[in-house]
Amino acid sequence: MKVLVAGGTGFIGTNLCAELHDRGHEVTALSRDPNDSDLPSGVTAAMGDVSAPDSIADAVAGHDAVVNLVALSPLYQPRGGADHETVHLGGTENLVRVAEDADVERFLQMSALGADPDGETDYIRAKGKAEAVVTDSNLEWTIFRPSVVFGDGGEFVSFAKRLTTPYVTGLPGGGKTRFQPIWVGDLVPMLADALEGDDHVGRTYEVAGPQIVTLADVTELAYEADGRSVTILPVPMAVAKLGLTAADPLPFVPFGADQARSLTFDNTVADNDVTAFGLEEADLTTLRSYLEGSPADSRHTDRSTA
Ligand SMILES: NC(=O)c1ccc[n+]([C@@H]2O[C@H](COP(=O)([O-])OP(=O)(O)OC[C@H]3O[C@@H](n4cnc5c(N)ncnc54)[C@H](OP(=O)(O)O)[C@@H]3O)[C@@H](O)[C@H]2O)c1
Repeated sequence: MKVLVAGGTGFIGTNLCAELHDRGHEVTALSRDPNDSDLPSGVTAAMGDVSAPDSIADAVAGHDAVVNLVALSPLYQPRGGADHETVHLGGTENLVRVAEDADVERFLQMSALGADPDGETDYIRAKGKAEAVVTDSNLEWTIFRPSVVFGDGGEFVSFAKRLTTPYVTGLPGGGKTRFQPIWVGDLVPMLADALEGDDHVGRTYEVAGPQIVTLADVTELAYEADGRSVTILPVPMAVAKLGLTAADPLPFVPFGADQARSLTFDNTVADNDVTAFGLEEADLTTLRSYLEGSPADSRHTDRSTA
């Protein structure tokens, strides 16, 4: 299959490109400034900006499948004029239209857990509206809504560290927001399976890891892995929101009101759709074992908070 991975130079993208190439597919990674040397060997780079449809039409032409992994991180404030509506919604509209015009068959959309056109953050609303664009298309679509994804090059663990300081630190609401992080090495084979199999067409999958952890757990695990300890002190959510809202316009503060809001709701699944790919939660890698450096030996059976 000839697959174009938009956002293929990013964290999940480079892992997916490598997986698809290993499975024998012809893979092109598209981004605004791709560099062949940063891509897995055998993967071709294409330059294009999903917010400018003319810039992606040639790259999309001739492909059997398109994967949309383009991202503006929800963890940090967008900079340089980009916003979630333009990149996640407008970018999806452009990719879908261009793919339809080019007679692409398959379209895999990376959404996010909690995606909702009426949701609480700009990111979640744009992701929700983008899903509707995909489901209304005439492409053979599959949508993934993962919880946070961790792995080499991911920003979830570094986010917890940037939000805090070692030894004694404050976290909004005491860091009680719950996540169900999934390892990129567990996620990408499911994405590749979805592209290859007919069973996944027209399906939306909520996928997450084997363990529910709070932001405080993640912070402690991250510092533990560095051989340091940390004591978490609660910062009332209202105070954190006020502080981050006030910091919104400051270019050197990477968090803002939207990020504060994102810490007020949990990021966990009710039913884990990894079962649609023949997996059980116990088959998946825990954040702790990844941080301890043994993801391959990290099968876990306890689904409780770390
Ligand atoms: N990582 C997570 O924890 C997580 C959780 C849930 C959902 N997701 C979703 O998974 C997808 C991939 O996330 P990720 O963590 O791999 O993101 P990432 O590492 O930030 O990669 C984003 C990719 O998008 C490209 N990009 C950004 N703006 C673009 C534009 N206007 N036109 C073309 N390419 C553009 C980037 O390259 P350039 O900047 O060089 O153009 C890069 O290749 C996203 O849809 C994200 O929302 C991620």
